[in-house]
Amino acid sequence: MKGIVFTEFMELVEGRMGLEMLDRIITEAKLPNDGAYTSVGTYDHAELVRLVQALSDASGVSMPQLIHMFGEHLFQRFSVSYQPLFADSHSAFDFLSHIDDVIHVEVRKLYPDAELPSLPCERPSPDRLLMHYSSPRGLGDLAEGLIAGCIKHFGENIAVTRTDLPKEGALHRARFELVRRSA
Ligand code: HEM
Repeated sequence: MKGIVFTEFMELVEGRMGLEMLDRIITEAKLPNDGAYTSVGTYDHAELVRLVQALSDASGVSMPQLIHMFGEHLFQRFSVSYQPLFADSHSAFDFLSHIDDVIHVEVRKLYPDAELPSLPCERPSPDRLLMHYSSPRGLGDLAEGLIAGCIKHFGENIAVTRTDLPKEGALHRARFELVRRSA
């Protein structure tokens, strides 16, 4: 997993819970590099899961809830640091339906070793979008948070229903159904 995800996570923890909490979870997580990450480096995604676990233990907030919160925050940060990727999208459905074939493709050009999920979409009707998450990393909670962040970013009224699907070999899978509501 790219270091940018780690550095954003640490900034979120430091900003919301303070440096002391950040230091504490870095110690608790027993990370190989003592929590020193560079944004362009690549690290085992299990280290992020260990940090979230330590934060969950220290704060009493569940891991899925923390990862979801982080996803929402990450999307907001992406909307600032990857601003050009937003130029052609005018709605959450527009943006989300191009993660797989445009957004993550651009991410891979920047970071050839990025570990990205597969996120194909279907649009059964103008007000419905189905997004299919599959990845060996099992970060469906992160996907859910990123989707929530995207909806917030575009300021729309969209209901999201997540269905976790059985694993297919090494792949964790989830389906997100998004329904746009009027007003
Ligand atoms: C501007 C928008 C976005 C950018 C720049 C972006 C970029 C990235 C980057 C840099 C990573 C880390 C890759 C690695 O660690 O090797 C990543 C992973 C990921 N992205 Fe995106 N992303 C964006 C939007 C989204 C959205 C809206 C979703 C919603 C479903 C999403 C789902 C994920 C997930 C779940 C991962 C974790 C890896 C995995 O599960 O396999 N991304 N993305």
